[in-house]
Amino acid sequence: SSILILNGPNLNLLGTRQPEVYGAHTLADVEALCRSVAKDLGLTVRFAQSNHEGVLIDEIHACRGKDDGILLNAGAYTHTSIALMDAIRSAEVPVVEVHLSNIHARESYRHRSYIAPVAVGQIAGFGIQGYELGLRALAAHGKEDGK
Ligand code: DQA
Repeated sequence: SSILILNGPNLNLLGTRQPEVYGAHTLADVEALCRSVAKDLGLTVRFAQSNHEGVLIDEIHACRGKDDGILLNAGAYTHTSIALMDAIRSAEVPVVEVHLSNIHARESYRHRSYIAPVAVGQIAGFGIQGYELGLRALAAHGKEDGK
């Protein structure tokens, strides 16, 4: 199976950005972890990050008919973007939503996710380990679908 790991705004600053909330690992560390887990699971992964909503939408569209799943950390667009929600609906590719922090234990404006209603499920609060859990979840979901 082939999986897109897609990261949204400000996640390029991981490691230096509010380390008390998001930890000391960088996005390069996240990518290295994902690549090693993917190898174990026999998944092919692509890794992308953008600070731009439209670029994230283009990435999601590009998965249609091509990829078997998307592991998505949409950053703050999670809480605002009906456009991302619509893109996921249109892509017809299973999405697992991941957040480093436990968004439900934070400010109330982070409690709503526009991704959650169109995702297979959500993982939040486990730091970069959430990406590993998400990849495992997508692999298991793909098997259920007979892929
Ligand atoms: C985040 C949580 C969001 O609320 C925040 O805007 C982010 C990162 C997380 O991974 O914990 O940028 O998605």
